Amino acid sequence: MAARLVAAARKEPRMLAPACAPVSAPSYEAVRRFSESLCEPLVTEDFVIQSMPDVSPTRWHLAHTTWFFETLVLSKYVPNYRPYHRDFVYLFNSYYNSVGEQFPRSNRGLLSRPTVKDIFDYRAYVDEHMRRVLTRKDAGESSELASVIRIGLNHEQQHQELILTDIKRVFSCNPLYPVYRAADPAPGRSMEPLQWMSFEEGPRSIGSMGEGFSYDNEHPRHRVLVHAFELATRLITNAEYLEFIEDGAYDRPELWLSDGWAAVREQGWRAPLYWEKREEAWWNFTLSGIRPIDPAEPVCHVSYFEADAFARWAGAALPFEWAWEVASETAQIEGNFAESGRFHPAPGPGADEEKGGPSGLAQMFGDVWEWTCSPYVAYPGYRPVPGPLGEYNAKFMCNQMVLRGGSCATSRTHVRRTYRNFFPPAARWQFTGIRLAQ
Ligand SMILES: [Fe+2]
Repeated sequence: MAARLVAAARKEPRMLAPACAPVSAPSYEAVRRFSESLCEPLVTEDFVIQSMPDVSPTRWHLAHTTWFFETLVLSKYVPNYRPYHRDFVYLFNSYYNSVGEQFPRSNRGLLSRPTVKDIFDYRAYVDEHMRRVLTRKDAGESSELASVIRIGLNHEQQHQELILTDIKRVFSCNPLYPVYRAADPAPGRSMEPLQWMSFEEGPRSIGSMGEGFSYDNEHPRHRVLVHAFELATRLITNAEYLEFIEDGAYDRPELWLSDGWAAVREQGWRAPLYWEKREEAWWNFTLSGIRPIDPAEPVCHVSYFEADAFARWAGAALPFEWAWEVASETAQIEGNFAESGRFHPAPGPGADEEKGGPSGLAQMFGDVWEWTCSPYVAYPGYRPVPGPLGEYNAKFMCNQMVLRGGSCATSRTHVRRTYRNFFPPAARWQFTGIRLAQ
């Protein structure tokens, strides 16, 4: 019976991420140089610290993104390519079992060698070889080669966000509170009251239509029955989250999922990550240093558990990912992204300002990743891409929740309406926030 099922499955048309347009040398250079520009504020000592197992040293991100191009492009598509160092295939492999063993993730901060300079030399070596690949005819004509390079660039953009979130976590452990990049806080304002946009029930389609780049987990596009829902016109602010705290949020088990309440108790949560009470006032640590909480800014660095408890306290819910995607079709893909260089969420429209474009939905893109109540699972009919890249997304489809919309650390060119980010429900070190639904 099992063999028959396997045979039947193989007869189905294979749903892959779409073939990509050729990758241009300028787009390769732009992504690679942006990674390096993010390192400009750092001193050598900053590059090597690992503050918790989930956080990787900056040096590791720079090396691992280079490993991707060396291992999955150069070693595969360039005859007689000589790897830069024979041990790097092991040292900088993250989780690709089909490539080979990996140096333990939690020990990445124990390595003083290769040095930071060695890693920049490694990047230059791989870039030199990649430039030759990018001029090859088959980089333009072969959808497979172009597709792998395009995944490599999007992969590097994901790690650019991690460079920022991870160095923020590293700096937050230092009582000197180093400033990554100085920026003035956005001017204070009074926020518009939370309002709701209504969406009607009906059959709709979600998932990638195959225009431009997409990951395999955005496929196949499929029909869903959308129940009538309402979505909040903006993100939840620090002021609103503070009300939740002051109403005893972290002392009221009835507001929490069981695993969430366990996390509150075990990890001693009393506020979002990076919040600190000084005398009677709340401050938060940002990449521009520690400063008083701005009531109008979107609340950030909350776990799924905190987002869920907040929604319950507010008498609302978190959106399903299909609801978020359907609603996002009415909003422009614009907002506070990494390109702004602020790396901190900004207040939404003030009480006396134009609401977020024609749909009325503000802050759908950028600022903070928005937790949805959808578990990260395969879409119906999903098939991972063949080979090592099948490990990119597919094997994580358990025990994680979907987030949508990108953050202030995401590149504008990286995000789209169908993009599915995912993190475990207790994760707080990403730029994650809350939009309510009902
Ligand atoms: Fe990676």
